[in-house]
Amino acid sequence: VSLKPYNTFGVEVSARYFSEVNSAEELIEIIKFSKAKKLSNLFLGGGSNILLTKDFDGLVIRLNLKGITEKIIDDNQVLVTAKAGENWHQFVMYCLDKNYGGLENLSLIPGNVGTSPMQNIGAYGTEIKDVFESCKVLNLETLELETLNSGQCQFGYRDSIFKQEGKGKYVILEVTFRLTRKDHKIDVEYGAIQSELTKMGISNPTIQDVSKAVINIRQSKLPDPKVIGNAGSFFKNPTISASQFENLKQKFENIPGYPNGDFVKVPAGWLIEQAGWKGKKIGNVASNQLQALVIINATGNATGQEIFDFSTMIIDSVKEKFGIELEREVNII
Ligand code: EPU
Repeated sequence: VSLKPYNTFGVEVSARYFSEVNSAEELIEIIKFSKAKKLSNLFLGGGSNILLTKDFDGLVIRLNLKGITEKIIDDNQVLVTAKAGENWHQFVMYCLDKNYGGLENLSLIPGNVGTSPMQNIGAYGTEIKDVFESCKVLNLETLELETLNSGQCQFGYRDSIFKQEGKGKYVILEVTFRLTRKDHKIDVEYGAIQSELTKMGISNPTIQDVSKAVINIRQSKLPDPKVIGNAGSFFKNPTISASQFENLKQKFENIPGYPNGDFVKVPAGWLIEQAGWKGKKIGNVASNQLQALVIINATGNATGQEIFDFSTMIIDSVKEKFGIELEREVNII
């Protein structure tokens, strides 16, 4: 089975077996089958944060559970639960239609609801941990359903238990968010949102306006994976010590940094651009012309290995120029 339609890089690799599940019961059944046959498993959501570098000699299970439910808590709070296979952006639009606030800054992020907690998706000043209530998971060791709250998920910057000690142990089946019904917290701290709203002529934005601004910004610099294969930011923004930052500042006086205690987070996009990679193309792969942090399948014919090798060249070159080791954000399979 070709996995090309199931990964946003649009990489052509094949899986020995492929199955799509629509419920927890179907998932449990297929996992029992897979255990009996001693197959290895790969779980796929929206396929927007993985790079498949070779054919998969096992069973790919695509999570297609659908449905959204809600529970009003009080005048101002609602719990909204979406199944893993719901498309993230459509879910955000559903909430905005109902005037539920909290997800507007996360508009237009590719992928499905079920993978959003894994890397604690974040953009324009918001991370899902800010509105996350709980998630229901299948424990693959016990085949029991469990509910994990925010603390148990151990969220960090682009990080959670699902990338650490819980890796390979859980499959996320649904996620519940605690959203606002009227006292919305409008977060336009991120400079780009503020200037986009000004451009739109809006001084007193609603959550729907914030969403529109975020959509405009994203569309202006992030390639649409339906048109050009990509997986969003390929690397994390690195965190370095304040003293290392000061040393770098001596040499590169324009280096941007966001201080956080004794550490400074440096935008990887800037480092990559300064190392000469912005818009650069090698074979079928390129660094995006408008946002260097995004690697694209420029011709549509790139292999996963080619994209991986390209990312290694970027890591080496940033390391050589700045002494900073970039870490991939995308899951490499
Ligand atoms: N920059 C450059 N050149 C570039 C790109 C960025 O110089 O080619 C510098 C600029 O100084 C700019 C700064 O980097 O001001 C920040 O750029 P941007 O606002 O585009 O954000 P980012 O730090 O590159 C992060 C997330 C994005 C998220 C944006 C907005 C990570 C790894 N990426 O990118 O997430 O949309 O902030 O909040 O944290 C994703 O994960 O797929 C993703 C797109």
